[in-house]
Amino acid sequence: MKKFFIETDITEIGANLKDLYQEFSGKRILITGGTGFLGRYFTQIFSFLNQNILKQPCQVISVDNLITSIEPKYEELSGIQFIQKDVTQSLQIEGKIDYILHAAGIASPYYYRKYPLQTLDVAIQGTRNMLDLAAQKMAKLLFFSSSEIYGDPDSKHVPTQESYRGNISCLGPRACYDESKRVGETLCQVYHTQFGTKVNIVRPFNVYGPGMQEKDYRVLPNFASRILSGKPIQIYGTGGQTRTFCYITDAIVGFLKILVRGIPGEPYNIGNPEPEIDMIGLAQTIEKLLKQSVKMDIVEYPDSYPADEPMRRCPDITKAFLQVGYEPKIELTEGLSRFFAWARLNYTSEKREHFQTRIDRNRPLGKEIHLDH
Ligand SMILES: NC(=O)c1ccc[n+]([C@@H]2O[C@H](COP(=O)([O-])OP(=O)(O)OC[C@H]3O[C@@H](n4cnc5c(N)ncnc54)[C@H](O)[C@@H]3O)[C@@H](O)[C@H]2O)c1
Repeated sequence: MKKFFIETDITEIGANLKDLYQEFSGKRILITGGTGFLGRYFTQIFSFLNQNILKQPCQVISVDNLITSIEPKYEELSGIQFIQKDVTQSLQIEGKIDYILHAAGIASPYYYRKYPLQTLDVAIQGTRNMLDLAAQKMAKLLFFSSSEIYGDPDSKHVPTQESYRGNISCLGPRACYDESKRVGETLCQVYHTQFGTKVNIVRPFNVYGPGMQEKDYRVLPNFASRILSGKPIQIYGTGGQTRTFCYITDAIVGFLKILVRGIPGEPYNIGNPEPEIDMIGLAQTIEKLLKQSVKMDIVEYPDSYPADEPMRRCPDITKAFLQVGYEPKIELTEGLSRFFAWARLNYTSEKREHFQTRIDRNRPLGKEIHLDH
């Protein structure tokens, strides 16, 4: 199976990191969850910096147990080493480490329904192990928490600020994910205050883009896969639940700005607050963009998907803007058009001929970089 990244996305990230990228010169960076959606973008961007920009290349160690992803071939990438390993087990790394991007996790609701104990373990024991490593190596750690730690916020707390404490069930069908990310954050806070470990927390709000696996089961790969194979999309519940969507290039820039400039110990929302859109509205936006009718079935939550989902989710990103200069730039329609153009080439839908893309073919899609599996 081929996975493609859009080279223009990688160069766009590089261009937006201009004032920051020499910080990675000569550094050694550990990425957990390195073969997941975000992890693969990080390895691509560090490889791009090595090949094009850094005076002294950085070294990247990518760790993943492949529970929800598959091992890419890194031959084409510069300075990347892969270790297949479960981060809930102890991990010995020789030599220095400057940064740890702790992105290992079970992020898709379908998978955390399937693997609840592994979901708890990676966010709790895995985070503790990575914090021990950060403390031992004097490295700065970035913990990938989630917007799900806010649960189902009261409307008066939407857009949601980092100070909001959450409205969440410890026993609900999503608790293994939400509660373990909350404990992961608590661990970060304890290591920071007790041992002075340098740590930041990011709370991503629905990051999407090229590179998401077709069988990831998050909303956009789900919609794209069904549309591309000529099937009606399925909207769970009422379709009135809202989300905001942050294109991958904006999110990666935000994460790296926080890694380098975040005030140690602090959590930051990373997302794009505009537009807050419900699932029916999202389907209609895709319909307009593709200029083809998209059939929708509003269905009950299937057993494989955890119900009790938040009715609204939208970040307040003022803190990240003021403290690290984070400012998302890619509008939803632009991001969706890049994602669908990529998915059209990469998703292995059996009835792809049903998908008549009418995305503006004159706009450059960019040269593609491929990682063969
Ligand atoms: N993408 C988003 O919108 C989003 C939103 C909120 C939170 N997050 C968090 O950001 C992180 C990265 O997200 P993503 O979208 O790349 O998810 P992903 O599922 O694509 O990647 C996560 C990776 O972690 C690996 N993993 C899981 N358990 C592991 C373990 N015990 N040891 C080693 N590797 C393990 C998986 O195999 C997978 O490759 C996750 O922790 C996720 O919870 C992401």
